[in-house]
Amino acid sequence: MKPLCLAVVGFGRVGRVCAELISLSHDLSLAAIVRRAASAGGKLPEPLQHIPVTTHIGQAKDVDAALICVPTNAVAETASQILEHGIPIVDSATLHGDALHAHKDAIHKLALRHKAPAIVGAGWDPGALSMFRSWFALLTPGGLTETRHHTGSSLRHTTMARTVTGVKDALCAEVRAADGNFQRYVYVELEKGADPDKITQAIRADPLFLGEDTQVFPVESLAALEQEGRGVVLDRRGLPGRLGHQHLLLEARFEESVLTARVMLAAARALPGFEPGAYSLADIPLSALWGERADKAERDWL
Ligand SMILES: NC(=O)c1ccc[n+]([C@@H]2O[C@H](COP(=O)([O-])OP(=O)(O)OC[C@H]3O[C@@H](n4cnc5c(N)ncnc54)[C@H](OP(=O)(O)O)[C@@H]3O)[C@@H](O)[C@H]2O)c1
Repeated sequence: MKPLCLAVVGFGRVGRVCAELISLSHDLSLAAIVRRAASAGGKLPEPLQHIPVTTHIGQAKDVDAALICVPTNAVAETASQILEHGIPIVDSATLHGDALHAHKDAIHKLALRHKAPAIVGAGWDPGALSMFRSWFALLTPGGLTETRHHTGSSLRHTTMARTVTGVKDALCAEVRAADGNFQRYVYVELEKGADPDKITQAIRADPLFLGEDTQVFPVESLAALEQEGRGVVLDRRGLPGRLGHQHLLLEARFEESVLTARVMLAAARALPGFEPGAYSLADIPLSALWGERADKAERDWL
C-alpha cells in the first residue's frame, strides 16, 4: 500500500517528534516540514536532512494530510490556510470543554467548505487521556473523577521502604484519593530474584504504613522514573450502592510531546476514511486509528 504522505507544520517539541516517528514508520512518509520564514533556514537533525522545508503549505508537493504543530493560539489560522488547499489536517490544540467544542465547530465549517476532513484535539490531553476519562465516566455513572498531575514524595516513607530486604531503591509518593484520604504509592527497584509479593506485604506491614492505603509498584529503574517528563493519576470512584463499589485508576508517567505525536500520527492514519468535516477522537472508531494494523490490533487487544 502507498504510504500516507504527511507534512509537519511547525518544528517545535511536538513537530520534531512527529517528524521523527513518521520517518521511522512503514506506512507514513514525510513529504515536507513547513516552518516560519525566520526558522526555515535552520538545519534539520541528521535523519531529516533530505526532507524539503517550505514556508507555506502550498509549496509542499504530494501532501495527503498535514499535522499542525504550531502554538495553540496559531492553530485556527494555520488550519484555515491548509484547509484552503483542500488538505486534510490533524491538530492537538490544548483546548478543553467549551473552547474545544467552539474550535471544532469553526474547523467543521471550514472543512465542509474546502471538502476535507479534520481531526481536532488529537494529542495526549486533550486526546488519549480524554478518552480514558470518558470511558471511566461511562463505566461509573454519577461517580467522582479526580485528576492529579503532581505527586509529592515522602522522605520518611521512602527511607523505610529502602530498608526492606530485596529492595534496591525506593520512592514513596503521597497522593490524595477521591474520598480525600491519602494513598501511598511506593515505587520499588528490586534486587535480582526478590519476590514482589513478599516485599509488598513487608512494606504494608510496617507501622509507618499500617492503616494507610498503600500501593506498591515494582519498576525497572527508579532513576529513569524520576527523569521522566510528567505524570498523572486519574482516579475514578463509582457511587457506592447495591451493585458494589467500582474504583478505576490510571497512573501514567510520560513525555507529553511523544504521546501527543503518537496520537497525531494515529489520527492521520484514520483521515482517509472520513468525509469532509471536523472530528474529535470521540468520533473515531479505535480500529481506524490503527490504520493498516487494525485487524491485528483487534485480534491482539479485544
Ligand atoms: N494535546 C496535548 O496533549 C498536547 C501536548 C503538547 C502540545 N500540544 C499542542 O501541540 C502544539 C505544538 O506544541 P509544542 O509544545 O510543540 O510547541 P513549541 O515547542 O512552542 O513549537 C511550536 C512551533 O510552531 C512554530 N511557531 C511558533 N510560533 C508560531 C506562530 N505564531 N505561528 C506559526 N507557527 C509558529 C515554531 O516552529 P518553526 O520555528 O518551525 O516555525 C515552533 O517551534 C500546540 O498546539 C500545543 O497546544 C498538545
